[in-house]
Amino acid sequence: MKKLVIAQLSDIHVSEKDKIMNEVNLRDNYLQALNEVKKHYFDILVISGDIALDVDDNPYEWVKRTLKGVNYAVIPGNHDDISKFVKAFSFEKYYKNGSVFFSKKVNGYTLVFCDTSSEYLDLDRLQEELNTNNDGSNVLVFMHHPPSLANCKYMDSKYPLSNHLDTTSFLNQNERINHVFCGHYHTAHFVQKENFCFHIAPSTWFQIGKKPTTFNIKHTNPGWTLIEVDGDKVTTETHFIK
Ligand SMILES: [Fe+2]
Repeated sequence: MKKLVIAQLSDIHVSEKDKIMNEVNLRDNYLQALNEVKKHYFDILVISGDIALDVDDNPYEWVKRTLKGVNYAVIPGNHDDISKFVKAFSFEKYYKNGSVFFSKKVNGYTLVFCDTSSEYLDLDRLQEELNTNNDGSNVLVFMHHPPSLANCKYMDSKYPLSNHLDTTSFLNQNERINHVFCGHYHTAHFVQKENFCFHIAPSTWFQIGKKPTTFNIKHTNPGWTLIEVDGDKVTTETHFIK
C-alpha cells in the first residue's frame, strides 16, 4: 500500500479583517504555519475547524485565496458559522440535517471528515460515511472536537464534545477506525483509548496548558502537524514555529 502524508493545521481563528488578539496577529501566525507546511511534501492538507475567529466572522474567501494550488480539505468547528462555511466551500451536497459530513479517498485510504460544530457528533452520519466506503480500506477520521476527554483539565471541563461518552463507546466498538485526528483543545496531545487513539493538533493562535484547571496560555508559537500513514502504521510529528 502506498504511503500517505497529511499536513494538519487547526484552530486558525482568522477574521474577515486583519486582527491582533492576545498579542498575536492571527493571519500572520496562520500564514507562518502555512508557509512552513508548504516546505514539506504532503498529499493533502487538512484544516480541522475553527477557521473563523468566531461565528460572526466570514474569513472563508480570504482563507481560500491562501490555499490556491494546495490540495486541501476543511471541516468546521464550533467558532464557524455552518451556513457561511457551506456556502464558501460549496459543500451544499454534503450538508444534511444541519451538518457537513464527507469522505475522500487519498492513496487508497479513506479519510472521513465529520462536523462537530454544534459540539455534538452525529454518529449515524459517521456510520453512513463508513457504509459508503465499505471497501476494506483503512479509515482515518477527522473531526474538530477530541472524541473523548483527554486529561486536559480546563478544556475537558469547559468545552468537551457533548456526546463524548457515546462517541468513545462507538469508536471502541468500531473495528475500522483506529485513528482520529482533531483540534479544538489548542494543545498538541495523543490519547490511547481501549480500541482507538486520537491525536490533537495544536492551534496556530495560542496553546493551552493541559494541567491548569483555569484558562491559561502556554505560548503563542503557531503549531502544525505532519501525519504519515503506511498501512496500519501511523506516526505524527508536531512542529512549532519559534
Ligand atoms: Fe473549537
